[in-house]
Amino acid sequence: MVKKNACIFISGNGSNLRNLIQKSREYNFPINIKLIVSDNPNAKGIIYAKKNNIPILIKNCSYKLFEYQILVSLKKYNISLICLAGYMKIISKDFLNLYKKKIINIHPSLLPKFKGLNTYLRVLREKEKKTGCTVHHVNKHLDGGKIIIKKTFFIANEDNEKILKEKTQKLEYLAYPEAIIRIFRKY
Ligand code: GRF
Repeated sequence: MVKKNACIFISGNGSNLRNLIQKSREYNFPINIKLIVSDNPNAKGIIYAKKNNIPILIKNCSYKLFEYQILVSLKKYNISLICLAGYMKIISKDFLNLYKKKIINIHPSLLPKFKGLNTYLRVLREKEKKTGCTVHHVNKHLDGGKIIIKKTFFIANEDNEKILKEKTQKLEYLAYPEAIIRIFRKY
């Protein structure tokens, strides 16, 4: 199969990045990860880029200039899909227009519920019965683009923030690869 070139944007731990790198090694997974972008020079996820010899672009200037550098690199590596994986910056409107429908994100709640930050705490405070994760297209509305896939689990009485995060991320490692397979079926 002819794989598409993808880029992963991170800001922190990079466990979804690590998972996607592993999946991308499977011969029938639709993407190759050709570039990693981190706006945070101390992001733990940078080690996975280095270990796997994947080129990485790390922010060391203003965000405006960084976005320009990213655009240049995306062209260089012929990137046709951008996966945000714990990327904490808002993508500018100009950037979004250039990569319309080609940017996706993973969020640790059942969107449209609990957009934004501190998701686990808010889910617990609201005494939700279930939660999960969502992979969605990125548009100008925070966590508001078209949904590609959701995965759900029931919250147990003893679940705290830490446990919710563990359970949610376990589902994320299934949801993100599945979402990528789904979108490439349509192309
Ligand atoms: C994930 O839980 C994702 O839902 C959210 O940020 C977290 C990133 O985790 N957007 P990691 O850096 O992939 O470990």
